[in-house]
Amino acid sequence: MVKGEQLYEGKAKKVFATDDPELLLVSYKDDATAFNGLKKGTIAGKGVINNKMSNALMQYLEKKGVPTHYVEEINDRDTLVKKVQIVPLEVIIRNIAAGSFSKHYGVEEGTLLKAPTIEFSYKNDELGDPLINDYHALALGLATQEEIDTIKKYAFKVNEELKAFWKSCGVTLVDFKLEFGRLSDGTIVLADEISPDTCRLWDSETGMKLDKDRFRRDMGGVEDAYQEIMRRLQAHG
Ligand code: TMP
Repeated sequence: MVKGEQLYEGKAKKVFATDDPELLLVSYKDDATAFNGLKKGTIAGKGVINNKMSNALMQYLEKKGVPTHYVEEINDRDTLVKKVQIVPLEVIIRNIAAGSFSKHYGVEEGTLLKAPTIEFSYKNDELGDPLINDYHALALGLATQEEIDTIKKYAFKVNEELKAFWKSCGVTLVDFKLEFGRLSDGTIVLADEISPDTCRLWDSETGMKLDKDRFRRDMGGVEDAYQEIMRRLQAHG
């Protein structure tokens, strides 16, 4: 595999072409942002942890029947993935009230929801990723009804699988954000990353936050939290 030109630099990752037109190389950075890039910082070692955690979880999900973009981990920070056209939706699943859900609906953080819930944001930094519903997504031409149905089905399946996985690590999966992409033949697959940047993960016993909220909220112990959640994942075997 030959690492080609850099195609894109995002907030937490860079994407490179390869000598295979169907494959891309994703390189995870230690850079961290929050509030649509307003807050900037570095979390030492984050890129390595997010790369390895995302790859482990994607492989786990593949085995459980969720197709993903994952192909092969190349080194600590770099992973080969299938080239996709990203569906411009941030798909958020929540089990417990936190963050923007608590704020919007006046529900105390930590409240168990009566059922898992899903929401979509239009992935558009200029607009600040506004919340939208299925009809908005259709009206804006972001995805077809069939794609939205597939995405919802996979998102809830990911939730069930990852809830059980993290439970066995002594961790509560509070909420998370997924992104999906289209392969060249139109097949929908899970893409982007699943990491402490994109999930809320709380110690099941103490409630301690083991995710990016420590950075967002200036809580301290950010690096330690990333290392601890990685240890929990590795202990799972
Ligand atoms: P929220 O409560 O701020 O809406 O976040 C919900 C979940 O989505 C949480 O696990 C963090 C994740 N998330 C991202 O991955 N990227 C984002 O840009 C935002 C706002 C949230």
